[in-house]
Amino acid sequence: RPWLRYDSDAALLFDGVRLHDVAAQYDTPCWVFSASMLRARARALKAAFSDRGQPISIHYAVKANDHRATLTILRREGFGADVVSGGELRKAIAAGMAPSDIVFSGVGKTDAELTLAIQTEIGVINVESREELHRLITLATHLGKRPKVALRVNPHIDAGTHDKISTGREGDKFGVDWREAPALSRMAAKDPHLDFIGLAAHIGSQITSIAPFEAACQRLAGMVTDLRADGVPVSHVDCGGGLGIRYHQESPPDIADYAQAIVRHLGPLNVAISIEPGRWLSGPTGILLTRVIDVKAQPAPRSDFVFIDAAMNDLARPALYAAWHDVLPLHARATQRPEKAQTLAGPVCETGDILATDRILPPLSRGDMLAILDTGAYGAVMSSTYNARPLAAQIMIEDGKIAEIRPRQTLEALWEAERLPDWLKAE
Ligand code: LLP
Repeated sequence: RPWLRYDSDAALLFDGVRLHDVAAQYDTPCWVFSASMLRARARALKAAFSDRGQPISIHYAVKANDHRATLTILRREGFGADVVSGGELRKAIAAGMAPSDIVFSGVGKTDAELTLAIQTEIGVINVESREELHRLITLATHLGKRPKVALRVNPHIDAGTHDKISTGREGDKFGVDWREAPALSRMAAKDPHLDFIGLAAHIGSQITSIAPFEAACQRLAGMVTDLRADGVPVSHVDCGGGLGIRYHQESPPDIADYAQAIVRHLGPLNVAISIEPGRWLSGPTGILLTRVIDVKAQPAPRSDFVFIDAAMNDLARPALYAAWHDVLPLHARATQRPEKAQTLAGPVCETGDILATDRILPPLSRGDMLAILDTGAYGAVMSSTYNARPLAAQIMIEDGKIAEIRPRQTLEALWEAERLPDWLKAE
């Protein structure tokens, strides 16, 4: 991990910034995002396609980390946005994204959200069902606009990832059954109120092999060929996001191989190709800084519980998906006592509030600090205030500069918006 190293005082540096300094200034728990690392990953991904002579539109999956600073950095690198709600759509626009660079995916879009998308003339609406297509036609007719539309296909491909983040299998709630998609595409293409441009698919997240991407691209390519043979013009294919990262022992495909697979199957179609990566871009660029509150000894062979000030309300992934995040101590005490297995537990009153189980780390004690790695995607965005725990501060670093991009939520903010009903007001 070239962005993380210990300095000569054995203090952990992230992108050249001493994390002790960040903790001293902003307290813990807090998220730290490296802007330089995000930029470097964005450029590497673009290069993977341009090296193959393939023009590509990259729409960052805003849900992975929707901070406006992140969106601003990616916009300046030439990225668009993939949004899944009216809120994300508005936020992307607030971050300066051109509506034409925004794609809107996701099931259960409300009429209000579709209306917003139509009125702002976004790049493309990825329609998820026959029913949504009909609603869209009604709304477009009423608004007198002709929105750009693609059909999100469910290709019936198992992405081989966690059950809860697989989206392209038969029976998953996303997309139009690929066998029904041709008829629906023909209908959409004929409708004067729609500008039908093509197909989209997103088969899941944290995909760690190339085969499911190949299978999805192949299916899409076959469908494009058939549609064209049927006289339906297709000018656009969006093959979704989903490229995995290495959290633990996974060996995800290299971006060059990923790009190669897409170019090989979709390049010959002569369509505008689009992708929607989230995790690959931002995941490794963020860490969660936390401090040890206390250690509760356990009889062997059980690991001691190390209680930290970050919890499942901050980082939900371990509790939700049994996800692994590597952990590094802020102080490398290599010469001290031997490492031992310890379990990092949050203070939330749930047995599942464990951020890392049986981790081999230097013996931890009260006040020690830790970095929970690869939390730049689906970390802060999935936080809640459960147990009346305020949202943690967010810090961005770049070239030694440190900026607080979201102050820690105040305790008062937790109840400020609550209103008592009149009948409870009198004491
Ligand atoms: N496009 C669509 C339509 C999506 O639904 C998603 C993610 C993406 C793109 C981006 O996928 P990525 O490149 O980030 O894998 N909270 C879960 C992940 C949920 C992903 C949902 N959809 C987690 O923490 O693992």
